[in-house]
Amino acid sequence: MGKLANRIALVTGGGSGLGKADCIRLAEEGAHVYVTDVNEDAARAVAEVIGAKAVALKHDVSSRGDWEAVYSRISSDHGRLDILVNNAGIVVVADPEETTEAQFDRTMDIMCKGVFFGCQLGLPLLAKSENGSIINMCSTASHLGFPPFFAYSAAKGAVRSMSKSLVIHCQDKGYKIRCNTLHPSAIETPMIQGAMGRPGQEVKVDEGVLPPGAIGAPSDVASLIVFLCSDEARFLTGGEYLIDNGSSIRP
Ligand SMILES: NC(=O)c1ccc[n+]([C@@H]2O[C@H](COP(=O)([O-])OP(=O)(O)OC[C@H]3O[C@@H](n4cnc5c(N)ncnc54)[C@H](O)[C@@H]3O)[C@@H](O)[C@H]2O)c1
Repeated sequence: MGKLANRIALVTGGGSGLGKADCIRLAEEGAHVYVTDVNEDAARAVAEVIGAKAVALKHDVSSRGDWEAVYSRISSDHGRLDILVNNAGIVVVADPEETTEAQFDRTMDIMCKGVFFGCQLGLPLLAKSENGSIINMCSTASHLGFPPFFAYSAAKGAVRSMSKSLVIHCQDKGYKIRCNTLHPSAIETPMIQGAMGRPGQEVKVDEGVLPPGAIGAPSDVASLIVFLCSDEARFLTGGEYLIDNGSSIRP
């Protein structure tokens, strides 16, 4: 029996990078996983790797209609949701003077409004869980100053704040739903490869403690998600977890 046996999980942006690793780890721990992505082929490929415990769905997180369709499917399949990982994201590399209105709006629609839809429309299903867990993907960009990630940082900062209101709302309503935010630094995925303008670099998970400046592996994030969604983390809500090998505190 895994740590998440028979939990019902939804991971957005599950077709690539961190979302893909999350889906696979959650399923390894016994969860039934809805792998959703605007890139349906990518979602389907991940679901095929997982097998019978996974369902792939096309899902643009900036669309209210898509969220309603995904939740309607989960409701008719299981009647509840235990784990929501708001992971889908994009990055626009543009500084405060370069960022266009269209880039800003698109970033906010996917990474801020998408999380708003996911949390608000998901609460009725999550409230039926005995240990509901929302993981909202943020970034060290919501702590630090990164001029080239201007719109991205704004969206992650908004999600960081939104998550705190959600935590207190759920507690006050008596919902058994915890919510935590994760703040990785650079993790080796297609997103970071694109943002850094260089091809992939293999990260070995068995290297042990990593040196300063190292890039993390998707499994470094997925392992924390498994723990935060498990019964062992029942006292953990409202947390902000840096996953950065100490880089944010280095003078
Ligand atoms: N990789 C890093 O270094 C890093 C660091 C901090 C935070 N993050 C965050 O982690 C999350 C995942 O990033 P990643 O590095 O795995 O990126 P990635 O580009 O590898 O994967 C992102 C996935 O999101 C999907 N997506 C994009 N727009 C979407 C939309 N509108 N609706 C649904 N799906 C959509 C993509 O198709 C893709 O499958 C993001 O929220 C990102 O901001 C990543």
